[in-house]
Amino acid sequence: MKKTILVTGGMGYIGSHTVVELLKASSRGNRYEVYSIDNFLNSRIITKRRLEKLTHKEINNFNIDLTNLTRLENTLQKLPPIHAVIHFAALKSVEESVEKPLTYYHNNITSITNLLQCVKSFTIPYFIYSSSCSIYGNLQAKDLPVREDTPPQPTASPYGHTKLIGEEIIKSFASTHPVHSVSLRYFNPAGADPSGIIGEDPGQIVRNLVNVITQAGLYRKPLQVYGNDYPTRDGSCIRDYIHVNDIARAHLDALVYLENLSSKKNSARKRRGVSGHYEAFNLGTGKGVSVLEMISTFEEITGVKLKIKYAPRRSGDVVSIYSDSTKAKKLLKWAPQHSLTDMLKSAWAWEQFRDKN
Ligand code: WQD
Repeated sequence: MKKTILVTGGMGYIGSHTVVELLKASSRGNRYEVYSIDNFLNSRIITKRRLEKLTHKEINNFNIDLTNLTRLENTLQKLPPIHAVIHFAALKSVEESVEKPLTYYHNNITSITNLLQCVKSFTIPYFIYSSSCSIYGNLQAKDLPVREDTPPQPTASPYGHTKLIGEEIIKSFASTHPVHSVSLRYFNPAGADPSGIIGEDPGQIVRNLVNVITQAGLYRKPLQVYGNDYPTRDGSCIRDYIHVNDIARAHLDALVYLENLSSKKNSARKRRGVSGHYEAFNLGTGKGVSVLEMISTFEEITGVKLKIKYAPRRSGDVVSIYSDSTKAKKLLKWAPQHSLTDMLKSAWAWEQFRDKN
């Protein structure tokens, strides 16, 4: 019996890679039927065709805005009973959220409250939320690598704040509704599927470092390093880059974790009345890499020399963050399998050949 999975943002970067993992798992055990909801606010229509080419399956995507509850409910009415929601759809640029805070609060938070309304009205048992390391804010060195129970600092951007508010809404909802939920706190996603058929397709404005690097390499244009006076080993910001395929796989591991929880918790739930389980997990490699180290690693791997221009610090940036992902390893039986070289090599291949797909 196939389990119906609703993936919001299924045409986006991490969403599309997760759709592939779900459909690949299906071919093993014929387990998941996937429906995507994506209005292409932060993704491209061509991704649907690319996914069909990669999976040899028809991809069901509904082009609706999650902030429109009526349209969302009417769409879900037409689907088979939904086993789980995996919620990716969100605006995700730290920099842009500083420029357009209200757009970010409206889009990212209304989407969540509408989806949870549907979880309630359609009695959906599992909810997996795409959260972010941005919820931790600007941590001090003593708090790194960051653990899920590390007390967060004030978020450094409206984007990070929407992610934190989203987690709190879901946690509160799960305490009074029979839905098991996890928040997966991605660190910095990077890289592309080894097929070269899908990858990050940022549209017209490129903001994330790895995309900026590969485009600077391909078009031989200078790239700006936002700040080289940070209190780090080389003055540039430090992040924990994690391969997008590792992140995608974590969503299936999280779903299995929640399903197993149900079987254990059912009896307890029956005794205790209706409430769900909520848990947050870091998804990172635990390795901090600076902006300048990313640039030099790219140059070593590709042989392409980049031209750097130092620019002022970018508002919303945190100085340094990298993860302790022990909890995901222990409870989700998940561990990153890709190296920084894999990330940069696959991102470079994707940049060079993506428009040929
Ligand atoms: C990384 C570093 C920039 C561009 C991302 C996602 C966010 C979340 C967390 C998942 C920063 C510097 C960048 C450039 C630069 N992921 N940089 N020049 O801001 O850490 O956030 O990961 O939920 O969704 O956006 O990533 O790649 O934008 O920046 O110097 O041209 O690279 O200042 O220090 P960020 P990023």
